[in-house]
Amino acid sequence: MLATAHLAPGLDILRISLHVLAAAVWIGGQIVVAGLLPTVRGFGDDAPKKIARAFARLSWPAFAVLIITGIWNVAALKNGDGSQSWSAVMGIKYVMVILAGGLVYVHTTATSPKLKGASAGIALLASVAAMVLGVGLAG
Ligand code: HEM
Repeated sequence: MLATAHLAPGLDILRISLHVLAAAVWIGGQIVVAGLLPTVRGFGDDAPKKIARAFARLSWPAFAVLIITGIWNVAALKNGDGSQSWSAVMGIKYVMVILAGGLVYVHTTATSPKLKGASAGIALLASVAAMVLGVGLAG
């Protein structure tokens, strides 16, 4: 039987909307910037660096919002809400979030093109994994 559809309380709407909006900026931004890179290169040698710096001014605040609203998400669970499998998925999500943030940092500081490319690619995969696990956690 289908569960009855219901509306989320106002504060839950705010909490999840902020979390999802920040995820959209963090992940969507990475994909869009990567997609625009070949065009941006045509604007000059230092154009990719300028675009990357401008994106970092948006992406790091978005990452901070993800952490803050993520902690809020966990705190919003009533005692005993998280099953063993929920906690296991949350544990994997923590690893993905640390990996994503860490590798984006490596990407910004790396000078070797190989390390720059690899760290950006794996950071995007880890970010998408954190998103998919989040959708699972939301149930
Ligand atoms: C790269 C970083 C992150 C991304 C891309 C991300 C993405 C998402 C997405 C898309 C959802 C599903 C929202 C929904 O369908 O309602 C979600 C849910 C969730 N996220 Fe994150 N998240 C990130 C970081 C975090 C962090 C750092 C925490 C904890 C400290 C966290 C805790 C949660 C929890 C507990 C839920 C379930 C919310 C609920 O059931 O109400 N997330 N996340």
